Amino acid sequence: MAQLVVGFTFLASGFVKVADPMGMAHKLHAYTAYWGLPVSDGFLMEVGAVVMGVAEFMLGVYVVLGARRRMATAAVAVVMAAMTVLTAWIYAVNPVPDCGCFGDALTLTHGETLAKNVVLLLAALYLATHPLRVKRMVSERNGWITSVYALVYAITLALYSLHYLPLIDFTPYAPGASIRKALEGSADADQRLANFYLADPQGGEDLSYQVAEAQGCVFLLVVPQTEVADDGCNDRINDLYDYCADHSLPFYMATASDSTGRADWCDRTGAAYPILQAEDTELQAMVRSNPGLLLLRDGVVVAKWSNNNLPEVEGLEARLQALPDKGGALWRLLAWFFLPLLLVVVADALWIGHKFYRHHIYVKQFKLKRIMRKKIVAGNWKMNKTLQEGVALAQELNEALTADKPNCDVVICTPFIHLAPVAGVINPELVGLGAENCADKVSGAYTGEVSAAMVRSTGATHVILGHSERRAYYHETPEILKEKVNLALENNLEVIFCIGEVLEEREAGKQNEVVKAQLEGSLFDLTAEQFSHIILAYEPVWAIGTGKTATAEQAEEMHAFIRQTIADKFGAEAAENVSILYGGSCKPSNAKEIFSKENVDGGLIGGAALKVADFKGIIDAWK
Ligand code: PGA
Repeated sequence: MAQLVVGFTFLASGFVKVADPMGMAHKLHAYTAYWGLPVSDGFLMEVGAVVMGVAEFMLGVYVVLGARRRMATAAVAVVMAAMTVLTAWIYAVNPVPDCGCFGDALTLTHGETLAKNVVLLLAALYLATHPLRVKRMVSERNGWITSVYALVYAITLALYSLHYLPLIDFTPYAPGASIRKALEGSADADQRLANFYLADPQGGEDLSYQVAEAQGCVFLLVVPQTEVADDGCNDRINDLYDYCADHSLPFYMATASDSTGRADWCDRTGAAYPILQAEDTELQAMVRSNPGLLLLRDGVVVAKWSNNNLPEVEGLEARLQALPDKGGALWRLLAWFFLPLLLVVVADALWIGHKFYRHHIYVKQFKLKRIMRKKIVAGNWKMNKTLQEGVALAQELNEALTADKPNCDVVICTPFIHLAPVAGVINPELVGLGAENCADKVSGAYTGEVSAAMVRSTGATHVILGHSERRAYYHETPEILKEKVNLALENNLEVIFCIGEVLEEREAGKQNEVVKAQLEGSLFDLTAEQFSHIILAYEPVWAIGTGKTATAEQAEEMHAFIRQTIADKFGAEAAENVSILYGGSCKPSNAKEIFSKENVDGGLIGGAALKVADFKGIIDAWK
């Protein structure tokens, strides 16, 4: 919900800015003028408007599609925090009539804007603190296609709208609007048009009615500020004016510049048409170009042109008769954005479905079964077996379990090199596949490391993290492990998370404290949903590979403590559902007794996983 609200709001507000960057540039100008900032350069304002619009649009795309979740949610929260402060100030001080959040498409009062921003800020903070709850609509692998498409779309739309006119006209002066009706006070006219006001600069006489009530066509050349207007299109303007003079069509120019500005314009362009006085912001609303041209017929706006596409005299006759040019429809513009994106999302889903079809099915079943707390026997090959030996071992195990179906889930965790070939020889419904480790980084220059995404791409569904050998020999701290866990979960791997105390700690009676700290340090920031993808493995370090097994009672005591700790943190249901495996010198001869304990849900097996007979013997302990 928060994802959709925040995502679509950013998308919509970014869209109106890229569809009408000039409108946003005017708003920015209003702010900088209020603050007395020395940046009134129109070009800078336009660049600012485009950058703001594109950035907002892209953040919206990221949040809606669940791409770059951490970056996008953090950025959205920062933007919303800044915007909320800004709108609170606007609410208190009232420096500008409209804050400009949604351009001219939707005007909110300052109070409404502030309320909207407070709600959005709360939603954005929630997302930023729970980025992994943002649902991914496109896989990480194909996310770049949607990002590049959205970026190209936004920039093209912004530049087109700046060069010509906005493809969608959100102003009151959109073609089809009747200024005459508004001035006559008609109820069905856009009331914002009642601000239309043109005056004779000499006598100050109000000429608005004369223009709006004129029968037939009237051209209105709009030049908000003559000083900064582009005069490169004079010839065409003068040609148009000559045409109008020849055909007895009224042609006016309207500007907010003073007499000096008007005189300067006449000098620069040789203007011979009458010049009227108007208000700056109203002129900016009339047409998003300086200069721009408006064609009215019987007081109705029928066409608008920017200085970059002024009409030629040839063919003008037909234009004078034509219906109002309403431009591109909003739905068409949106379809150009959403349809290709939808196509990518569907294609991506199919692609992933195809590639990982078998493993998806397996993971689904895996989840279903876990409702009744799954019994699991997982093998940890450690640094053993050449590629050929490993593939042969997996094959042999697969055959043994095909012949004699297990009563529990079986997973083998192998060195990285075995993963892809082993995936090819096992039946994923019988034998799950996992790695023994993954990197704490997403990707990049980390020589020798293997990322969670890479593990997942082999077809593996699990990963062991936090094994005591990695904590001891490779100095993996709870913080590092936290990163690894997050990345593994982000890549849809089920995590077998190992915890356990060393001998001195047990002798000092500190085992509970140690295990609790290990859980807290790496897993306690997870959500309950994320935690449902964790399998715990209690492995007392003094029992690993030593032949010294913890007694079944010692194991049960610790497993019960771990389950209670999970219940305290994640609730009774999560505790009830989490499988807690025992590891450390587990053999066919002691497995049955250990597994018989209420809180022991299986084993993580090292040495005994290297021989099919031993491993199968432990698996059979569940029979
Ligand atoms: P072990 O190892 O069964 O050889 O004691 C267990 C483990 O380290 O996971």
